[in-house]
Amino acid sequence: MKIVPLSDEDRVSVRMLELACIREYVEGPMKRSWDEFDQETRQKLGASASGSFAHYRDSQLSFVAKEGDRVVGFVFAQMVPWIDGIEKAVWLENIGVDPEFRRMGVGYMLLKRLAQEGKKLGAQVIHSSISPDNVSSLLLHKKLGFVAEDRKTAYLDLSKVI
Ligand SMILES: CC(C)(COP(=O)(O)OP(=O)(O)OC[C@H]1O[C@@H](n2cnc3c(N)ncnc32)[C@H](O)[C@@H]1OP(=O)(O)O)[C@@H](O)C(=O)NCCC(=O)NCCS
Repeated sequence: MKIVPLSDEDRVSVRMLELACIREYVEGPMKRSWDEFDQETRQKLGASASGSFAHYRDSQLSFVAKEGDRVVGFVFAQMVPWIDGIEKAVWLENIGVDPEFRRMGVGYMLLKRLAQEGKKLGAQVIHSSISPDNVSSLLLHKKLGFVAEDRKTAYLDLSKVI
């Protein structure tokens, strides 16, 4: 198993894996049907979508886990100039592991590599948004030392602001 920077050669595989992870979340904790999402909406989901893939590929903070040539995990992240009054913070956008390779330490290796590379680039913290019902993700973050206070990120859709 190796952890390597995200590159164009992994684009199709990582896209399929990220969409599979999103679908799992939609049909699991969200209790919604994947069929509710039309093709256009699905194309925009995830960090590996065509509009954002290049941004994450070039962020120096996005990695894939590979078993041979097979992509079995990913983490998409970027550096943000300021969060919560802290200069230089890593924002973790998404992390996922192929179900066949879970509980083998792949998620931990991806997160650890992200932390090491973020630190090298001068980041002071990593921020990550975790759904409270996502126990495996929460425990993965805690294993690495994340402090998961009782708060969620909120967002405002600016297309609704006039
Ligand atoms: C969350 C996820 C990335 C974890 O990846 P993983 O490779 O299975 O995690 P690891 O094997 O590295 O596990 C590291 C630690 O996390 C915790 N953990 C991970 N999955 C767990 C589970 N299902 N139940 C309990 N603890 C779990 C454990 O503490 C584990 O350490 P241990 O094996 O020594 O007990 C994976 O379950 C996944 O892809 N889920 C779907 C996508 C998702 O929810 N992503 C998070 C979005 S924020």
